[in-house]
This record gives sequence, C-alpha cells and structure tokens, in this order.
Amino acid sequence: MDNNIYPIFDRMQTRADKEQLLGQRGIMIWFTGLSGSGKSTIAIALERELSQRGLLCRILDGDNIRSGINNNLGFSADDRRENIRRIAEVGKLFVDTGIITLAAFISPDNEMRGMASDIIGADSFLEVYVSTPLEECERRDVKGLYAKARRGEIKNFTGISAPFEAPMSPALDLDTSKLSLQESVERLLEMILPKVSLPTQQQ
Ligand code: ADX
Repeated sequence: MDNNIYPIFDRMQTRADKEQLLGQRGIMIWFTGLSGSGKSTIAIALERELSQRGLLCRILDGDNIRSGINNNLGFSADDRRENIRRIAEVGKLFVDTGIITLAAFISPDNEMRGMASDIIGADSFLEVYVSTPLEECERRDVKGLYAKARRGEIKNFTGISAPFEAPMSPALDLDTSKLSLQESVERLLEMILPKVSLPTQQQ
C-alpha cells in the first residue's frame, strides 16, 4: 500500500462472529439534545434495563470522554466536530464488537450527527432526540452551567450563545418535560429489543 499501512482485518474474528458469541447484535443509540436535557440519565436507566435482560452495553458520555480521550478539546465548532468524530470512531469499535453502545453527547448539528452515522454505518445507527425544551433544561440547571452562561462566564454555550439544530428525522423523540424516565426507557426498549436480538438458531 502507498502509505505502508497494512490492515489485518481479514484475519480477525468478524463482527458476526462476535455477535454470535455474545448472542446479540451491536448497535449505536445516539442521544442528542441540550445540556441537562436528560441524555445521560436516560442512557444509564436504559443500560440497567438492557443489562437485566442479559444484553451487554457501553455508555459513552460527554463529561467522561471530555476528561479522557478528548481532554484537549473545547467547545468551538471545530472542537465539537473533532469530539464527535473521535467518539464515532471509538463507538464503531464497540458496535463492531457486538455491543449495544449508548452515546450521550449534545452533538449540536445535523452535519456532525451525519458524520457519526457515516463512520458507524447508517444501518447500525439510531438517532434519539432528547427534545426537552431549553426553558426546562435551564430551570433544572443541574450543573449550574446555564446560570454561568447567562452571566457570560462560559462562552459558546449551547442554547444560549451557541446553536443547537434539532434532528430532521430522529428514530425517537423523547421530551423529558412530558415523559417520565420509565416511559422514555420503555419506548427505547420497544425500539431496540427487536433490533439487537439474533434470529433463533436452527437445530
Ligand atoms: S458537544 O457539543 O461536543 O457534543 P459534549 O456533549 O461533548 O458537547 O459536552 C457537553 C457537556 O459539556 C455539557 O453537558 C456541559 O456539562 C459541558 N459544557 C462545558 N462548556 C460547554 C459549552 N460551552 N457548551 C455546552 N456544554 C458545555
């Protein structure tokens, strides 16, 4: 090859092999929405329900990833894009290992989310819009960041001084000002369970 890189994928166990091993299909559930909309809370509750059904999950979450692999990135448009690109590449590794991967990132525009879908593969990518309105996120202000953003202490804060573009056709729309956590999780399970189960094996 031109650049002296020789991928060895053809000698590795395939995604299908790993899915058989685990008895489940890998998929990416991509939560998008404002800070404080409930993305991580829903992902954590969903993970618990899926685990109780014997399904293996991995949560990728904004604050965790940004204190590790992405600790050199801020909140400019370019840095957010690079944040999402790396998360999508890491997420793809989990999905290709047969794992139900729950990504909870603001991911504020369609272009970024489209890039994530392209990296992971549209067939394995479900976009979930946590559409809790800004007023409700700001009222909750769990981390106190909206108050700081209003005082001008945080720049480029999504919803206040940086844009958020709603998804055009999400697989699911969950407004946590209208739905209980349990209701959101039930809707997710209804959508996900048929997609992650393997066909029953022929004897
Ligand atoms: S994204 O836009 O690049 O997708 P990400 O989900 O990783 O954002 O990180 C969002 C979290 O970072 C928020 O929930 C909040 O806790 C924190 N944060 C710090 N500064 C900002 C900011 N300027 N805009 C949005 N969130 C911020």
